[in-house]
Amino acid sequence: MNMLKAGYADNSTAQSVASKADTSYEGQYTSLMGKVIAISGAGSGIGLATAKLLCSAGARLSLLDNAKEPLENAAEDIRKNHATRLDVNSSSSDILTTVADIRTSVAVEAWIEKTVSHFGALDGAVNLAGVIGKSVGVSNLTEISDEEWLFVNEVNLHGAFYATRAQLRAMVKLGQGPRSIINASSTAGLEGNRKNSPYVASKHAVIGLSRCAAKEFGHLGIRVNAIAPGLINTPMLQSLPAERDGHNDFLLKNSQSLGRRADPEEVARTIAFLLSRDSSFITGAVISIDGGQIC
Ligand SMILES: NC(=O)c1ccc[n+]([C@@H]2O[C@H](COP(=O)([O-])OP(=O)(O)OC[C@H]3O[C@@H](n4cnc5c(N)ncnc54)[C@H](O)[C@@H]3O)[C@@H](O)[C@H]2O)c1
Repeated sequence: MNMLKAGYADNSTAQSVASKADTSYEGQYTSLMGKVIAISGAGSGIGLATAKLLCSAGARLSLLDNAKEPLENAAEDIRKNHATRLDVNSSSSDILTTVADIRTSVAVEAWIEKTVSHFGALDGAVNLAGVIGKSVGVSNLTEISDEEWLFVNEVNLHGAFYATRAQLRAMVKLGQGPRSIINASSTAGLEGNRKNSPYVASKHAVIGLSRCAAKEFGHLGIRVNAIAPGLINTPMLQSLPAERDGHNDFLLKNSQSLGRRADPEEVARTIAFLLSRDSSFITGAVISIDGGQIC
């Protein structure tokens, strides 16, 4: 097959030429060594991959999720298999876990207060807790119920607001940066989709939230960026109804440049870059990680 053709007919071929996920990062992201990073949505998908990568880079982590068992399993796995920097993160006290709903402002404030009182620092935060909702691929805007609209926006937008606000409050108290916050938008934050309006609206709004925070807190050395992942192989993507999945397959074959879904580790690497000093002049940006989906 001619690999240079626009788009791969066979997604497995495209996957095989892609760089494989690599979570062994000793020696890279040295500026993250010993840093304290809070991650929401850490029990699954991109959040879990990010927690593993940051731990292997020597960061100390405060992980939040509303799913208790996946979060506890994640923390155990990370301690056992990814705490490669034994000098800095060999002890269980270097990974804090908090089971909480990101929609509850008080719980989110408490998560960040607990993080700062445990570690005495907060160098970075990654806000990934998110849901796609039941209406994706199924309901037009006129068919969206109040409940569906509120649920998706409360998790994706209000949750990102509560987290970013709590993190900024703590960071301001801790004094001049460098510090970095990353919020999860999506390619759905950059363009309209049919039958996905609650999610699309929430992800557009996350970009506005992140840009305002970048403008307001840059003078204190706090950078705030949004990421816009495309099709990433996680439980969220795997949960999509057949209609939406078919649409994504069409996209991969006909329009997305690399013609494949990404592994969550490929997003985690961009997040690590945005947390690290290598991205010291990047703030208020929306970084696409979409294999050329929107270009
Ligand atoms: N997978 C993709 O293709 C993709 C693409 C673009 C953007 N994103 C965004 O990236 C982020 C991570 O997505 P993922 O694919 O890893 O999804 P995922 O479903 O694998 O993980 C999301 C995590 O968020 C947690 N969560 C959900 N609701 C919560 C709540 N109310 N409080 C606390 N935690 C909650 C879940 O328990 C889960 O562990 C999301 O914000 C998502 O919208 C994902």
